[in-house]
Amino acid sequence: MKRTMIVATTLLLGAGAVMAQQEVAVQQDNLMRSQAKSLYTVILKMTKGDIPYDQKAVDEAIANLETDVAKIAKTFEVNPKQDVVNATYGASPKVWKNKADFNSKIPPVQKAIAEVKGKITDVASLKAAYTAINDRCSDCHETYRLKLK
Ligand code: HEC
Repeated sequence: MKRTMIVATTLLLGAGAVMAQQEVAVQQDNLMRSQAKSLYTVILKMTKGDIPYDQKAVDEAIANLETDVAKIAKTFEVNPKQDVVNATYGASPKVWKNKADFNSKIPPVQKAIAEVKGKITDVASLKAAYTAINDRCSDCHETYRLKLK
């Protein structure tokens, strides 16, 4: 009886930990998706003419990117040791083996954002800003993001 209870408790605690880890993975993924919303759903679409140029939306997207990118180091502090259920991309275990190097990929994105902030006035300058920022996002993804499917 006692033994059964211990086993049951251990199982419950185990399930709790798994859920917490999934939560961490989801938070990390949500932060990336939020960045993608600013950079791809707003900025990239405008550079392609899929949506009309809108100065207010551009300024908001840049401000949101600035806020989100500042959260990467902290959001990726804990290794969830699992991927988001059904995710297309996951974090490589290398993130937590080389956390200092992973973190070193963040300031270049912030620098690219700072350099264009307040200077985007038309589609041409938006295109240049998109490339400058996206290249720095890719510098981290090349090493630390895994394609799962
Ligand atoms: C310091 C490293 C780093 C930087 C910088 C970074 N990312 Fe990521 N990104 C990751 C990792 C690791 C993953 C995979 C884990 C995840 O999805 O949370 C990822 C995943 C993603 C995904 C896939 C999400 C999904 O599951 O569909 C998108 C989209 C994305 N990042 C966009 C961006 C954009 C846009 C930027 C630049 C503004 C950026 N990232 C900057 C590390 C980074």
